Formats: sequence, structure tokens, C-alpha cells
Amino acid sequence: MSVVDRDFNEETATEIVLGRNAACTSPRLKQIMEVLVPHLHAVVRELELTSAEWMAAIEFLTATGQISSDRRQEFILLSDTLGVSMLVDAINNRKTQDVTPSTVLGPFHVDGAPRMAMGENISKDGRGEPLFVSGRVLDENGEPLQGAVLDVWQTSEDGFYDTQDPRQPDMNLRGVFRTGSDGRFWFRTIVPASYPIPNDGPVGRMLKALARHPMRPAHIHFIVTAAGFDSLATHVFLADDPYLQSDAVFGVKDALIREVEISQDSDRAAAFGTQAPFKSLDIDIRLQHEEVGHIRGSRAGFAEGKTS
Ligand SMILES: [Fe+2]
Repeated sequence: MSVVDRDFNEETATEIVLGRNAACTSPRLKQIMEVLVPHLHAVVRELELTSAEWMAAIEFLTATGQISSDRRQEFILLSDTLGVSMLVDAINNRKTQDVTPSTVLGPFHVDGAPRMAMGENISKDGRGEPLFVSGRVLDENGEPLQGAVLDVWQTSEDGFYDTQDPRQPDMNLRGVFRTGSDGRFWFRTIVPASYPIPNDGPVGRMLKALARHPMRPAHIHFIVTAAGFDSLATHVFLADDPYLQSDAVFGVKDALIREVEISQDSDRAAAFGTQAPFKSLDIDIRLQHEEVGHIRGSRAGFAEGKTS
């Protein structure tokens, strides 16, 4: 033990801890700790945390873990509401071209959604106001991408995902579509609703203490993949939603907002298996070739945090 190690105090604390980590054989872990420990110590010093406050923080994190399960991920909510998820997303999805921006993945994606034929209805129970969604998957130059896969999911008209709501059929409002040679996609669904993120746990209590609401503006989630392109996790947001300016998880980007159109085209309505007037929403999705300036990395770890 060095002299420094035996004199742990306010001034020497950071240096001693970093010295204790010096033998770490993982360069990245060592680098992370060399940044994390000084920042964490700086927070404690600057705030002059009391022992009671530090214990409250530990109890908060303990509760965040304890409420998490295979159907609920409170740590993702914590990351989302502190802006960390969107910051990690921004760092890992820097784009050099005019392509569709990414946004937060969120905790409600599930693997294994049903593969559907173009035009099918992802609403299994038929509850809600019908909506027709269409668009094209394109490259940076506007060329259509054949064989692009779109994994879509959204809430019910009540603002719940199927995994949160035992009244909904399994895999309700989820589907996987593959584009043809023209890059087009279209499917039927219902108008999604704005919804509160789960707020009956520690993150909900945190938001309440901060005088923040838990609402997200109505949206449809997409993960779009195509061979040779960066995969994209994004949303389309419905214009005129009252929460577009204050999304609880900071996920809104102007380029992702679309007007819901009301179409009077009865021929088109018949082709969609509905009647005019009907609501429709159109969004083209532009992907970026994966070799163009993309920093790959930690988003995989973020995605693995999802549970349902
Ligand atoms: Fe969502």
C-alpha cells in the first residue's frame, strides 16, 4: 500500500481510486472508469452530498432494479427520461447524408412479430380509427430499395402496447413487411394514441418530483433494415399532437412528423379494403449505405436492454 492509498480524503479520493484501477487489462473499461470516477466524485464534491441523500440515491437505483422484469425495463425509462438514450443514439447514428433520422428504440419492441403481406392490417382486434400507412424505402439518392424489411409496432387507441394490456391479442399492432422492387410499403392499422411511459415506479416518482409529465406524443415505431445499409430505428410522429414539444423521452425530430391526411378517394379506399373518407399517413424512409462514415458501436448494448 502506498502512502497515498492510506490517506483517502476529499482531495486524494479520485487519484487513489484511479490508481487502484491501474492494472485493468481492458483498455476500454479502463478508459471508461478514468472518465466516470472523476465525474462521479465531482458530483459528490460539488453538491456536498449528505449521507442521507446518497442513501436515497442508492435506494432509488435499487427500486429501479427491483421493479424491472422480463416485461418491464425501468432502467431504459430512466435512461430515456434523462436524455441518455437519445444522446447515445445521436453519437452512434451520425449521418453524413440527407437520410431519415433515428430516434429512441424504447422498451416495447418485441422480436418475432408476424411477417405480413403488403396491405395487411396489423390491428388484430379492429379497435380504433382505421389508418392507412404507406411510403417507400429509399437510398440516399432516392433510389428504391428492394427487399428492405420494416418491423413496425404501435399502441392501441388507448395508448397501450399489447405487452402492457391483457385485453389485446398477442402481437396486436405489430408486423414485419418486406418491400418489393419499387421500394414501396403499405399496411393498415389504427390511429395510435399519445401515452404515458409507465409512471407507477421510481422513474414516475422522479418525473413527478421534477414537475414533468410522463407523456409521449402519438407515434408508430419502425426498425428498417436492408442489406448494405445502416439499420434504422425510428418513429413517425402524428402532427398536431399536444405533446410534440415535450416528449418525456426527447425523441421528437421535425423530420419525423407527418400530417394525417383525410382521403376522399373511393377507388383507393376500396383497394385498401375500407371506405372513403379514410385517414392515411405517408412517409418515405431514406437509409444510408453502411460504408459512408458511420460510427458503429454501443447501440447494440442499448438494444439488448429491451425486454418487451
Ligand atoms: Fe412508443
